[in-house]
Amino acid sequence: MSSVAGVPYRMKLRRKRASDEVTIATISLEAFSEYSANAGSGTVAMCDERGALSFVAVVDDEVCGFAVLKLTGGSEGHLLAIAVAAPARGRGIGTRLLHGVIDAAAANGVRVLRLVTAEANLGALEVFLAAGFSIEHREPAYYPRGQDAVSMQLPITR
Ligand SMILES: CC(C)(COP(=O)(O)OP(=O)(O)OC[C@H]1O[C@@H](n2cnc3c(N)ncnc32)[C@H](O)[C@@H]1OP(=O)(O)O)[C@@H](O)C(=O)NCCC(=O)NCCS
Repeated sequence: MSSVAGVPYRMKLRRKRASDEVTIATISLEAFSEYSANAGSGTVAMCDERGALSFVAVVDDEVCGFAVLKLTGGSEGHLLAIAVAAPARGRGIGTRLLHGVIDAAAANGVRVLRLVTAEANLGALEVFLAAGFSIEHREPAYYPRGQDAVSMQLPITR
């Protein structure tokens, strides 16, 4: 049981199902349209890429976030996307999703988890830095709409 401002909520993480796709597309459109023209369908397709493990966060029986981990078959993994529906942000859901991804990466033999996020996305940077990621490089004009990004990495030692 978690709580925010003293109000408890139950959250579980589970693997994504086909029936989650409309919700994932909706959350993704809201979260990523400023970076990509096909944020909804593009993210849903990403969930089913070869090597992808996709997770959803369920609070009170409602899917309110998702994350996509890509396994390469080697010791590297990539967090391709993570997002929480706007009304559910700031309650620790993104952090718990991220730790679920890190656990899944460790269980699959990943030694270094990498991701790319927008340089100006201070909320996401805060969440990733707090989980132990560090910034590797700046990636100028990385996104189709021209924003700069940073690549980040987390060594997994367990
Ligand atoms: C990034 C994201 C997934 C974080 O999810 P979340 O559920 O809001 O995160 P949490 O509630 O676990 O926040 C963890 C910490 O980060 C901080 N934080 C979260 N969003 C923040 C923001 N926009 N600005 C500043 N700090 C922020 C919180 O204050 C919290 O710190 P605290 O525990 O000390 O209070 C969510 O903001 C989101 O979906 N953003 C849009 C999509 C995105 O940018 N994804 C990442 C790039 S792939």
